[in-house]
Amino acid sequence: MALYSEKVMDHFRNPRNVGIIEDADGIGEVGNAKCGDIMKMYLKIDDDTIGDVKFETFGCGSAIASSSMATELIKGQPVSEALKLTNKAVAEALDGLPEYKMHCSVLAEEAIKNALDDYYSKHPEKRKEHSDESGKL
Ligand code: FES
Repeated sequence: MALYSEKVMDHFRNPRNVGIIEDADGIGEVGNAKCGDIMKMYLKIDDDTIGDVKFETFGCGSAIASSSMATELIKGQPVSEALKLTNKAVAEALDGLPEYKMHCSVLAEEAIKNALDDYYSKHPEKRKEHSDESGKL
């Protein structure tokens, strides 16, 4: 069996939603100290929905594929759903990652959570609303 699924290869070769959002409502940046990879997520939030999302990833192929898939999974979704996104869900949507590459999908989950945290720091009133909906936070 190939090490990487076709979906991983596809999102690595043709990543979706690459770039930046100049007037983003939330920006999250995370890094992995061991491998040195960095991921940055930009969110545009309209009406409690992820209206747009873009990313920049300086990292391995699995990190690029994970960021790309994560943006596809949350785009157009309510913020409360984006909050529930786990790295496992990202890896599953990619038809799996090798065990030693699972940490790359963790970056995607964390970058989105950080971007939402940034959004909440600017809109504290929304934090309670969304935490009631998602059961998280
Ligand atoms: Fe660093 Fe993949 S090896 S995120």
